[in-house]
Amino acid sequence: MIFQTLEGFPKDFLWGASTSAYQVEGAWNEDGKSPSVVDMLIHPEEAADFTVASDHYHRFREDIALFAELGLKAYRFSVAWTRILPDGTGEINQAGLAFYQQLIDELLHHGIEPIVTLYHFDLPYILEQQGGWSNRATIDAFVEYAAVLFTAFGSKIKYWLTINEQNTMILHPGAIGMPKGGELPSKQVLYQQNHHMMVAQARVMALCHQLCAGGKIGPAINTTSMYQETCHPLDAIAAHNWETLRCWSFLDVAVHGRYNALAWRYLEDRGLAPVMAPEDAALLLEGKPDYVAINYYSTATIAASRGDGSDLSARAGDQQIMLGEPGVYRAAENPFVDKTQYGWVIDPVGLRLTLRKTCERYHLPILITENGIGAADTLLPDGTINDGYRIEFMRQHVEQMQLAINDGVELLGYCPWAAIDVVSTHQGYAKRYGFIYVNRGEKDLMDLRRIKKNSFAWYKRLIASNGELRG
Ligand code: BG6
Repeated sequence: MIFQTLEGFPKDFLWGASTSAYQVEGAWNEDGKSPSVVDMLIHPEEAADFTVASDHYHRFREDIALFAELGLKAYRFSVAWTRILPDGTGEINQAGLAFYQQLIDELLHHGIEPIVTLYHFDLPYILEQQGGWSNRATIDAFVEYAAVLFTAFGSKIKYWLTINEQNTMILHPGAIGMPKGGELPSKQVLYQQNHHMMVAQARVMALCHQLCAGGKIGPAINTTSMYQETCHPLDAIAAHNWETLRCWSFLDVAVHGRYNALAWRYLEDRGLAPVMAPEDAALLLEGKPDYVAINYYSTATIAASRGDGSDLSARAGDQQIMLGEPGVYRAAENPFVDKTQYGWVIDPVGLRLTLRKTCERYHLPILITENGIGAADTLLPDGTINDGYRIEFMRQHVEQMQLAINDGVELLGYCPWAAIDVVSTHQGYAKRYGFIYVNRGEKDLMDLRRIKKNSFAWYKRLIASNGELRG
């Protein structure tokens, strides 16, 4: 659609940026924090671990001062469950609560809206030892944890997010780290875990509405659009298969409170359908999100399955993530898009398409909670970081966001990944995303100094002009 006139961004648009607790905080065992699953998983040896990360735990005031200088209207971060309830449930660790209290107050002091993710991959390890999400008791544990946060911070937080990228945890569990012994859970186990997370999420959304007057809550799924490789009808079916199984099946349960029909048939047919307790159907319906958050990085191109071993391929630069499934889809190449140095497709128009589809499907406001380009940024001898590729990446995505708004999408804000360099899920510090460079190597912590990248000045100008000055 080409419009004759274009509207700009709404005046209260939330120009923000994101991080997650385990990737930015460090202090992995300080002030009563217990280990999370991430602390106990095996990560690539050559990559930075998460023990110190960007040392945000000790430097959050300095970091927030920089966020304020950047002009952020919002900052999306996650709370480490293991700081709040070191045993997963039960006794509250006051030091953990105090840390987030100070963080939130510091943000509010600078006029930055805090957007809080309750859970971003880092389940308490103690719960994992009791079966993790395979154990129904983890549903109650999550509700208990959320209640602590809603009670403590409900008067200050307007935007809550339930679970970050549940679909990544279920579809690509190895992306977050490998269990000792190297065995990932079976698909059947994963879909049972998925169901428990769905019930937990629904209960937490309902609880948020009870405990937090005016609070808004939503799911945060890694969402994208799938293109069919050719106009062959079977390629179209395959693209629809995978878009449904990878994206919509997760959001449909979160928003509509019931399983997607195609996804449920797939689960039944393959013997993967989860066991549902009698009360679950009602519980799923009780949780209603106020908005949908999407993490958008790239699109994928899909062809019909050939039904043999050749359907499977590793995602470019990412041996942990296998694509393709016999009888469902196979991954194909798109000659019309570029790729990052890590092989991720760059597709700004795909963002517009994904926003349109999400809007059309759910009729809810949308918040972009992640989008960005991972790159090996270099600190030059003159002390600058010339990340022009990041500026170009975001410029193009912001342009498409404006078009999506003109398409009728109610877009609440844009929180790219990441506010500051963080440890990538499995590529350490080699792959950076932030507007602010953290001076450390994979193993050598150096001085952890904060240095503004060129994208910092660009984003600052963009925010100050409410999205107008993109050049
Ligand atoms: C998202 C996650 O999937 O992608 C983040 O929510 C992650 O935690 C981001 O860091 C980028 O992925 P990666 O693997 O490059 O760190």
